[in-house]
Amino acid sequence: MTCAPRRVHFPLHSHPAANVLMPLLPKRDPKERIAVRQFAGTAALKSQLSQPLRVAHLTDQHFGRVTRDDLQWAAAQLTNDHAPDLVVLTGDYVAHSLDYLGLMSEVIGSIDAPKVAVLGNHDHWAGARQVRGALERAGVHVLSNESSVYDLGEQRLQLVGLDDAYTGHANAGRAVSKLDPTLPTLGLSHIAEEADKLWPHGVSLVLSGHTHSGQITVGDLHKWTLGKMGGHRYVHGLYGCRQAERAEGAVYVSAGIGASVFGLRLGDRGRPELALFELGKDATDVEEHHDEQPPHPGRAPSPRKQESRVTAVHKKRRKRERRLRRHES
Ligand SMILES: [Fe+2]
Repeated sequence: MTCAPRRVHFPLHSHPAANVLMPLLPKRDPKERIAVRQFAGTAALKSQLSQPLRVAHLTDQHFGRVTRDDLQWAAAQLTNDHAPDLVVLTGDYVAHSLDYLGLMSEVIGSIDAPKVAVLGNHDHWAGARQVRGALERAGVHVLSNESSVYDLGEQRLQLVGLDDAYTGHANAGRAVSKLDPTLPTLGLSHIAEEADKLWPHGVSLVLSGHTHSGQITVGDLHKWTLGKMGGHRYVHGLYGCRQAERAEGAVYVSAGIGASVFGLRLGDRGRPELALFELGKDATDVEEHHDEQPPHPGRAPSPRKQESRVTAVHKKRRKRERRLRRHES
């Protein structure tokens, strides 16, 4: 068994100047801004599936002022263009407010496939109950530290979804407690580092977001900002090993679609992204963007840091409730 690099592709559209100059250039189809990256699934999924399944992965859409509506619609249309069997969404649907939930429901609702989601830190900061409601109105099944089995054509796929770990809502033990080990299983978690807790339970592939790949990836800057400074083990792309035995597995971190603070994205790895996973296929049958990468050393947040993140969610909820009361009176 080996996960040594096989090949690396350098797409022609990777020059950072293309992103810098884009606002100055004549208007082009926003679909062209989105990188479509394909990957095969794991050996375990191949052995359990009788036919391949295409899973489309979108994350960090951040519906709001920073991310343009046409990019959101383009991401949904591009997803439909690839006719996936299943669409998974791994959190951060909003950016600081609930004002764009109507648009969010409309755009995500236009995706023509079964849809399963987990929440991210921004969803908890802005209002998890409201975001979850808007997702459900768009026909999305939201998993919160639980698993569920989906009939996709002739096949069954089990999904296990963690709630957001950044804000202290993830509970891997509860999430895996009802897993059926005989079924092919895919994991969802906004925070990629949680994958390590799912792999030993037969979840050989976990899809994640959160990092936006740093958005600025020129000169591998993202590896420094997120890997070295931010303490992330998994920054962007595929990590782990798809051929691994039960104790290990693979995790994918998508660059996502939107942004919450600034919209600039520079470099190939920083582009808005739709990831497609061809579960049941071998890596040699799929033109992949890159191979499995070694993880960064990583640095877990201190207990004090974790505590402050939990407190931040409560503070924001109280502030939101006060604002709502003022508005109603
Ligand atoms: Fe995000």
